[in-house]
Amino acid sequence: MYTSRISGLGSYVPENIVTNDDLSKLMDTNDEWIQERTGIKERRHIKKGDGNTTSVMAVKASEIALERAGLTPKDIEMIVFATLSPDMYFPGGGVEVQEMMGMDTVPALDVRNQCSGFVYAISVADQFIKTGMYKNILVIGSEHHSGGLDYTTRGRNVSVIFGDGAGAAVLTRNETGRGGILSTHLHSEGKHKDELALPGPSTSYWVPEIIEKNPQENIPYYPYMNGQFVFKHAIVRFSEVIKEGLQANNLTTSDIDMLIPHQANLRISQFIQRKLKLGDENVYNNIQRYGNTTAASIPIALTEAWEEGKIKEGDLVVLAAFGSGFTWGSAMIRW
Ligand code: COA
Repeated sequence: MYTSRISGLGSYVPENIVTNDDLSKLMDTNDEWIQERTGIKERRHIKKGDGNTTSVMAVKASEIALERAGLTPKDIEMIVFATLSPDMYFPGGGVEVQEMMGMDTVPALDVRNQCSGFVYAISVADQFIKTGMYKNILVIGSEHHSGGLDYTTRGRNVSVIFGDGAGAAVLTRNETGRGGILSTHLHSEGKHKDELALPGPSTSYWVPEIIEKNPQENIPYYPYMNGQFVFKHAIVRFSEVIKEGLQANNLTTSDIDMLIPHQANLRISQFIQRKLKLGDENVYNNIQRYGNTTAASIPIALTEAWEEGKIKEGDLVVLAAFGSGFTWGSAMIRW
């Protein structure tokens, strides 16, 4: 059985910075409320005409990751693309990346697991490498939220939280004989699917129905989130799945050198940090600058932590995520 390691990381966020004060001009909110409840100071939004889409941002992040891995698009044997905001309803974003990057006719798989998407995607890629089927897989998380949020007061609990961006990792067969991805742990609990969801447009609301009905009336085009319910479940599941991963590898919380939690809310990250008794230097957060970028949040944070020299060879790096579905997961990586 082979193992895989991350051989290259990259990220991209749009240039357009949207501050809390900018949002308070559109809806009844304010900088103090947003910072106190979420830790977010600003986020990036795609600007009309800047050329960015979910797939375009994915390509920009992937180009950096590939270069750092010392590979070209022709070396990639599979794409695993996590997003809840693909450019099109179908086909998924993976095929767009394949085309834009000029890759061979490699398999392109979209993962639909929202905030847990990147951890799920890493796990899928890891299995293909473990079995020996592929040597180099491009794993992406990219999201364009800003085009689909409700910027009136009605949508304020959701629209202040989410931002746009992309991150990518190249997973490579580990021929170094040390470290790599130790294990991944995935879960779901569909009974909570309605607590954080965007029900339409979808096959629940096919086009004739959309045309017939006044969209304002019944069809939920904007994401819905039961914030407190999500919060309570998140703090339990994050801790559980991190401990599950540690136990599977006979490790303890004191072995963690760097925890990269999905950037859902700074309060959630701080709660987990306290619960696991981790130091500030052992947890990386950048939600202050980008908001919650869903599937992109972990690869963006991982890339930045690595760029800042906070991840060194031999470190135990833990990725952990929780989100809509509910779904959650962790990945234990020896760097
Ligand atoms: N600005 C100002 N006030 C706002 C607001 C905003 N952007 N959004 C909501 N409010 C108001 C509410 O309307 C409510 O007002 P009321 O008391 O008059 O009814 C009040 O603030 C408190 O709302 P509540 O939802 O109870 O706040 P909260 O403390 O739970 O914080 C979240 C809201 C969304 C920040 C918090 O629940 C959260 O972060 N949940 C987890 C979300 C998450 O992580 N999602 C991603 C999962 S991957």
